[in-house]
Amino acid sequence: MRAIVLVGGEGTRLRPLTLCVPKAVVPVVNRPMMFLILNWLKSHGVSEVVLSACYKPDILRKVIGRTYRGMKIDYIYEESPLGTGGAVKRAEKYINGTTVVMNGDILTDLDLSKMLKFHRQKKSRVSIALTQASNPSSYGVVETGRDGSVLRFLEKPSPEEVAGKVLNINAGVYIIEPGTLDLMKDGKVYSIERDIFPKFIGDGFYGFVSRNIYWMDLGTAAKYVKACRDILEGAYKVKGLEAAGKNVKFGGGSRAVRPSCIGSGTVVGGNSRIGELSVLGKNCVIGKNCVVERAILWDNVTIGDNCVISDCVLAGGVKVGASSSVTGETVLGEGSVLAPYSRLRA
Ligand code: GTP
Repeated sequence: MRAIVLVGGEGTRLRPLTLCVPKAVVPVVNRPMMFLILNWLKSHGVSEVVLSACYKPDILRKVIGRTYRGMKIDYIYEESPLGTGGAVKRAEKYINGTTVVMNGDILTDLDLSKMLKFHRQKKSRVSIALTQASNPSSYGVVETGRDGSVLRFLEKPSPEEVAGKVLNINAGVYIIEPGTLDLMKDGKVYSIERDIFPKFIGDGFYGFVSRNIYWMDLGTAAKYVKACRDILEGAYKVKGLEAAGKNVKFGGGSRAVRPSCIGSGTVVGGNSRIGELSVLGKNCVIGKNCVVERAILWDNVTIGDNCVISDCVLAGGVKVGASSSVTGETVLGEGSVLAPYSRLRA
């Protein structure tokens, strides 16, 4: 089976982390987010993936490549963003059988195989995965009938509209049949949720509801951090997750508290503590007498001596001068440099 994964967005809400890399390449426990999505797709029998790219496609292609664990990876590009609907239309030539379409910033363990069975049983033209969220008003809410048919879409409804109702949100995973997009025009900007799906209502469009699954869209820094912590705590399983990679070195009196994850080649100076829920990328250098906790450091980050780094995200190559403190949900973009004795709190 084939999947089309939408990865063309600029990831504006995740800036500055997405200023230098597309969201699909943002590291989650030291591997590109896309690898986690590809693992999940593979575990449900997907063998070919088309990445629908637009923002920073060269980086995407370089990092993800042409194959992944035996899956074939193709790319399709837009010169300017066509929106989630226009992008699927552009990839239409790849939809020559039942095809999975999904947003490329979702981490989930939803049972795609079961959804496929549901899709076939219902003889759906389009099936949409639905799940529950504690705050549905920040998502696209979908109302379904007793037989699962989709009745209504509410894009980011107000809290009043959703108060007291059990509502399902769009989980960003769809299964579609060939010919479904015939009425759409090539090269036009469309939103799949706003412009396309409402037109399918009453015409073989079903919602597949999953409860008690893991589901997170990694659209903001807070959700990105939450997803990393969930993985460390085992709420979302990632195979081959290691507490420490190759050649990690600890100076005398330094230690790491689990759950945490340290990339290969990272060096931690004496008397420093890598606290729980921290992720350190490859080849980071942490000085002496530092505390790093609940922080996410990408590759090649350098922290001087006597620093406190907590609850923050530091992108690749960030340099923090000695005796600094970076705390309170601070997010620093790639290559940021802080002078010694800096104090940063978001
Ligand atoms: P924000 O700018 O923060 O909203 O992020 P985004 O646009 O990257 O993500 P959004 O949640 O809006 O989009 C959901 C998924 O669709 C993401 O995986 C995006 O990469 C992808 N996407 C959004 N717009 C486009 C587009 O115009 N073309 C393509 N190919 N993919 C898109």
